[in-house]
Amino acid sequence: MANYKNALNAPIFKTISKATEELGLETYVIGGFVRDYILKRGDAKDIDIVTVGSGIELAKKVASLLPNNPKVQVFKTYGTAMLKSGTREIEFVGARKESYTENSRNPQVENGSLQDDQNRRDFTINALAISLNDNSFGELLDPFEGIADLGTKTIRTPLNPDITYSDDPLRILRAVRFATQLDFKIEKESFEALSRNAYRIEIITNERIVDELHKIMKSPVPSKGFLLLEKTGLLPHFLPELIALKGIDEKEGQTHKDNFYHTLEVVDNIAQNTDDVWLRWAALLHDIGKAPTKKFSKKVGWTFHGHEFVGSKMVYKLFKRLRMPLNEKMKFVQKMVLMSSRPIVIATESVTDSAVRRLVFDAGDYIEDLMTLCEADITTKNPKRFKKYHNNFKVVRHKIKEVEARDHIRNFQPPVSGDEIIKTFNLKPGREIGIIKEAIKEAILEGEIPNEYDAAYAFMIEKGKELGL
Ligand code: CTP
Repeated sequence: MANYKNALNAPIFKTISKATEELGLETYVIGGFVRDYILKRGDAKDIDIVTVGSGIELAKKVASLLPNNPKVQVFKTYGTAMLKSGTREIEFVGARKESYTENSRNPQVENGSLQDDQNRRDFTINALAISLNDNSFGELLDPFEGIADLGTKTIRTPLNPDITYSDDPLRILRAVRFATQLDFKIEKESFEALSRNAYRIEIITNERIVDELHKIMKSPVPSKGFLLLEKTGLLPHFLPELIALKGIDEKEGQTHKDNFYHTLEVVDNIAQNTDDVWLRWAALLHDIGKAPTKKFSKKVGWTFHGHEFVGSKMVYKLFKRLRMPLNEKMKFVQKMVLMSSRPIVIATESVTDSAVRRLVFDAGDYIEDLMTLCEADITTKNPKRFKKYHNNFKVVRHKIKEVEARDHIRNFQPPVSGDEIIKTFNLKPGREIGIIKEAIKEAILEGEIPNEYDAAYAFMIEKGKELGL
């Protein structure tokens, strides 16, 4: 029998083993820790321990044997307990048999054997257990050929997949997420069961759905997950805006690109250049305004006028519906969507300084992220155009640097304050102050004057004369 003692080098496993001997229990480490050890994904942060007996009792015993006697958090309703050891969270659960009801993820639970407990796990690769018992320390228990599935990169359920997914529909999403994260295939029967049970996702809370979506989004090739969600019929349940981008219309021989597949390409492109999950979200949502703004006219063909603005409004609704944070992260995604075409419009070899200054002024600190998004948006298959567009963005990036060094437009602060305008012309608060301020800003952005105090002061005096002040 394969021995995995080396997986158990961390001192905490010796302590758990000692506690289990003292209590006369039978205990195993199970789930993600074992899977990730075998896949060499680095040490898992969380460790799941299953014992044939009381998980709470075992956790308390372990805590009493640890030098710092950590606090044990008990979840009585679930019969589980958790303690922290260093940066790790160790979760203890008694082996159980579960049966689920139609309308809830909360199962009826009875005590069971290790085998019962492995049966109720989601995937064969997550049902692998390593013994922490003295007489078999390090032995692997793999009743469903999980090791073979790790080898062939397969997601498979221990039991009939219809039962596993219907018992806990979150697993439908977990299957897609693991396939994406680990670059695994979902076995055929499992895949069919995903589609059959997709409607059950409705009983899952938005928070859990978003958790899984984030994990898909953080994967190296996120499109893999979104394509699976689309193929299994899951996507319309939580991201109908993306489904609305699917398809190509033809009128009078004119077509537009399929914005769903285009979007997925953009997400994969950006995933190569940023780990920022919110910038990846921005890529996923950058074109959602195209479905409601799509129009055809004989003169200009297909257009999506104002899709950036409409899209940024849709971002708010989507975040609200999925209970994602309505904070600065959402505002960031909105801003990216709203500005997503701006660099494209100015990306020509002859881009002017003033166009670049305006872009930097509007994007502020998000200018690099915006450029990253726009570069990811280049999905043309024509190598000549691909090169040309990238070159044009290089020119824009270079110009941004130049303008930045010279004009400091990012987070623009007017070089002459409103107070100074009031004092100089002895004004009462009124519209003239705003007019002068705006004129100074415009003159700087247009490059008529540098972004400096003396020049702005002289310009203010001139403008005041013009206004008869
Ligand atoms: N599990 C399950 N069904 C679920 C969630 C979890 O059967 N819906 C089981 C699996 O055996 C899983 C273990 O509980 O391995 C721990 O779950 P969790 O910590 O959520 O996942 P990990 O597998 O550890 O992976 P990750 O940390 O990447 O989520």
